[in-house]
Amino acid sequence: MDTQKDLSATDRCDRDIFSISELFHENTKLRRTPDGLVLGGKAPPSTPEVHYALRHPWKRYASTARTRLPRPLDPLRTPIELVIRSRQSVREFSGTAISFEQLSYVLDLSYGTLGETLLDDGVAKRQRRVVPSAGALYPIELYPIVFQADGLQGGVYHYQPEENSLECLQLGDLHSTVNEMFSYPEVVAQASAVLLLVAIFQRNRFKYGERGYRFILLDAGHIAQNMYLVATALGLGAVAIGGFLDDKLNEFLGLDGVDEAVVYSVAIGCPLV
Ligand SMILES: Cc1cc2nc3c(=O)[nH]c(=O)nc-3n(C[C@H](O)[C@H](O)[C@H](O)COP(=O)(O)O)c2cc1C
Repeated sequence: MDTQKDLSATDRCDRDIFSISELFHENTKLRRTPDGLVLGGKAPPSTPEVHYALRHPWKRYASTARTRLPRPLDPLRTPIELVIRSRQSVREFSGTAISFEQLSYVLDLSYGTLGETLLDDGVAKRQRRVVPSAGALYPIELYPIVFQADGLQGGVYHYQPEENSLECLQLGDLHSTVNEMFSYPEVVAQASAVLLLVAIFQRNRFKYGERGYRFILLDAGHIAQNMYLVATALGLGAVAIGGFLDDKLNEFLGLDGVDEAVVYSVAIGCPLV
């Protein structure tokens, strides 16, 4: 008997049974049938539901104080190749404040709007955005937690891209509370802000079904890369942080962690030189 082969077969069998990620990936594949149909995704064509979603891809906290971000901002002049080649994760920050303007650049150029474009009916419009998103559904919302920023009080905010503003959810020095919600509190401790990327799952699930979960994580990656690059162009440091206590952060933001949940985060600040 070929023991080696037998063991690896057992190992493979265990993985097939117990790997949630394998099951998820397998069950969210698109497949073409002999009839030419593509199975596995829900994706209906243009429907009133899809049109509505395309025109309303953002959350709004109606009754909160809002601060408009400055626009237009002066163009950033650093050549893109230099910015891309200089990007790196910065985990040591000086603890000094970034400016409100720097935060505005990061938010606007990571997830802001670019102006209207027509939908396929030639009548309705949606906003173009600085990042791609599956089906232009933009299921991610940004929640900046600001620790030190000149010109903006510390607190928890929601970025509202439609009017390019910050909606204030809570004011105060939240550093010690928030640090403990990360696996690496020492990284967040000296950062000037941590930007939380929150998914509203139904925003693309209604169209793509379970495959939409893949797209949400990909969308988050696009946004986070923009954050890295804009921070680099501004001389700031940034680090993506996947190590956080999910439900602590969800609870902190008032999210249920099921329909809406934090999926990613990026800390930014002044690099320690
Ligand atoms: C999905 C993802 C999660 C990450 N999570 C963390 C984290 O929790 N803590 C951390 O210090 N760095 C984190 N990073 C940063 C990586 O460690 C870093 O990108 C990698 O070491 C490469 O280094 P560089 O970004 O400087 O090129 C994460 C990066 C990604 C893409």
